[in-house]
Amino acid sequence: MALASLNRSRIALVAELIVVSERIGLCFAEWHSEEWLAAFRAIASGHVASGPAIERLCDALVAVLGGKAHVELVGSGRVALGLALAVFRQRRSQCTRVIVPAYICDSVVDTVRAAGLEPVFVDIGSDLNLTVDGVANALDARVLAVIAPHMYACPAPISALESLCQDAGVYLVDDAAQVLGVTQEGRPLGTFGDVGLLSFAQSKTVVTGVLGSGGALVINRADWSVPMRTICDSLPAPQRRLRAWMHFVLSYLAAPYLGPFGQIDYYLAAAKLRVGMSQRAQQLHHYYNRTRISGLEAAIALPQIARLPDYLTARRGVLELYARALAGSEIIFPQFTPGRYLSKVVLLLPKEQVMSETRRRLAVAGVASRRGYPARSEGGRAAGWAPRLLEVPSFSGMPARQIERVCEALRSRPLKNT
Ligand SMILES: Cc1ncc(COP(=O)(O)O)c(C=O)c1O
Repeated sequence: MALASLNRSRIALVAELIVVSERIGLCFAEWHSEEWLAAFRAIASGHVASGPAIERLCDALVAVLGGKAHVELVGSGRVALGLALAVFRQRRSQCTRVIVPAYICDSVVDTVRAAGLEPVFVDIGSDLNLTVDGVANALDARVLAVIAPHMYACPAPISALESLCQDAGVYLVDDAAQVLGVTQEGRPLGTFGDVGLLSFAQSKTVVTGVLGSGGALVINRADWSVPMRTICDSLPAPQRRLRAWMHFVLSYLAAPYLGPFGQIDYYLAAAKLRVGMSQRAQQLHHYYNRTRISGLEAAIALPQIARLPDYLTARRGVLELYARALAGSEIIFPQFTPGRYLSKVVLLLPKEQVMSETRRRLAVAGVASRRGYPARSEGGRAAGWAPRLLEVPSFSGMPARQIERVCEALRSRPLKNT
């Protein structure tokens, strides 16, 4: 009897140690055996640059997007956006400004600038998206287009923005890079405005890799489907996709399990840079060249699209647990609404809570975290909130005890010496 209870307490102690030493990392992709199998099959059959999965993915996306939109698969969300902006510009060459939210990732801003256009930053609402009033106030005769992303998959007021842009004669991009399978007023996100765009890069809803790992241009105007198809058909097939895929697997998916070897890809790249064998900027430029999507990445996307409804439901459950664990604390989960899907958990820390201390506390508790994007404007909500926004781990099967652990570390007192 005594022996049995001793064993039980030992087991409890070992279990506790395992739990405490368990790291909770940020999730870059949720791949099941189907994705790995699809990848190995594509590689083994030589369908890396192109392959039959591309057409199947196109059909699957048209179905998810309600059956009416025309979809062209390209090398990345940036490529899709760049193509759309070039077409807009051809039609209204006198307009050179593009409205984007003041809280946004580099890829959108860089693409606008690379198209020879000027981004106009408009403040965000409490859901981290553009507001209709903000856009209305920024519209003038020089505005060519509005890019309306659904930040972290939280729907922007896209239907109202569509009416506004139509009345103002301004193009609208429904930037659904971070979301798939969510509707507003019964219409799938990505199908509003003149064009929509999707991305399959890390941390999105469907993830196939990083560095130009695929995206889609969604053409929502019947009169544009033929000219857009002509442009997209002329794009070359991508190159070096196997290398980019291995980089993703090593640097993002396997790294947490490889200990010091997890950084091998990084050190190789750094060593190459040292001896002048490669230039990071050039490499990145190469990955975002205007190309079609690869067969490898299309194959990895397909099983995720088949599982999409279950995936969205499972993640909604995790968001609900986070909201419950944070209830009563001063930390705000600004985009949370019961039943809403989000691709990330991004929290707003109280004004007086220091970001670096909070991240250190999380790190001590074995919890990874990432800061939000920098603000693009000097004032307004974006400027006030951006330094206080923090991403914490979330994935569809995340157990309640891990969520509790993250929230406990977020709420706990600052370290003594800080
Ligand atoms: C809102 C938004 N738009 C566009 C993009 C560009 O997508 P990609 O990384 O596939 O070029 C991203 C991704 O970084 C994004 O978050």
